[in-house]
Amino acid sequence: MGQLIDGIAVASHVKSNVRKAVDELKSQGVNPCLATILVGDDRASATYVNNKQKAAAEVGIATRDYRPPSSFKQEELVELVKLLNSDPSVHGILVQLPLPSHIDEFAVINTLNPMKDVDGLTPFNSGMLVNGKAFLKPCTPSGIIELLDFYSIDVAGMDAVIVNRSNLVGKPLAFLLLQRNATVTVCHSMTKSLTEKLRTADLIVTAVGNRQKFTLTGDMVKDGAVVIDVATTRHMDKLTGDADLSVRQKASWVTPVPGGVGPMTIAMLLKNTVTAASISKGMTE
Ligand SMILES: NC(=O)c1ccc[n+]([C@@H]2O[C@H](COP(=O)([O-])OP(=O)(O)OC[C@H]3O[C@@H](n4cnc5c(N)ncnc54)[C@H](OP(=O)(O)O)[C@@H]3O)[C@@H](O)[C@H]2O)c1
Repeated sequence: MGQLIDGIAVASHVKSNVRKAVDELKSQGVNPCLATILVGDDRASATYVNNKQKAAAEVGIATRDYRPPSSFKQEELVELVKLLNSDPSVHGILVQLPLPSHIDEFAVINTLNPMKDVDGLTPFNSGMLVNGKAFLKPCTPSGIIELLDFYSIDVAGMDAVIVNRSNLVGKPLAFLLLQRNATVTVCHSMTKSLTEKLRTADLIVTAVGNRQKFTLTGDMVKDGAVVIDVATTRHMDKLTGDADLSVRQKASWVTPVPGGVGPMTIAMLLKNTVTAASISKGMTE
């Protein structure tokens, strides 16, 4: 049986370090503040934003909560972002995705001040990531790296297969794993012979989120592989990931859903907020 990677425990460790950093910043007159913007009333997005707000408050990070209606125009959203960009009391800005279809996500993200971009999605921060110089990295991929580090899972030389090519997960993770000297294959809905690729992988990171389209089963996993399940989806009335329970018979390490990558994403957002607050005062090394 594979050993479970405990995302709740690692996230709690990260958050306790964040809390110390927040106290340190406050003692130096900086009150770290995260602004979140949720356009519209999507229930899942509202839950994510509520959880982020709550987690920030728990570590002493101040929050601002903007929830304009779904009719909010792109120009209005851009104006709001610019206002927060120029507000020195706000250190991190998070625009919850996805945005309503009438808004061009890239245009909005491209407006964010990269020094306040706590999701690490601006072109500047993506470019820094590709160059191995990023200080604000996308939260889910950096949370995965944090999990691997915590359990001393060294990916150098591993054949890693990522099933996802989104800007939020697959693409940035590919660069982070390359920096750790893994050999990375990025797969997606048009990938040929996916099962064969998975069967040779030492590390599988899967983030499809639709069991009808894709389920990772034990027979697709080589003995001793590390499996990181990023997906969150409902299957048979339960919150689950892409991986079937049979994967645990084959993997050496596996993340549960819930309780794996999810808590890390929020913990890394808090860490990025503290980094952004430190940057604002020129306090990074
Ligand atoms: N735990 C967390 O903190 C966290 C954070 C982020 C995301 N997630 C979860 O991760 C999942 C993905 O999120 P996302 O935002 O990256 O979504 P997304 O943009 O829809 O990405 C899904 C990916 O799966 C690929 N895919 C779809 N069907 C496939 C198939 N049959 N075989 C192989 N690949 C297939 C897609 O390929 P194409 O590109 O070709 O369409 C795409 O790259 C969701 O369940 C989301 O809830 C969790």
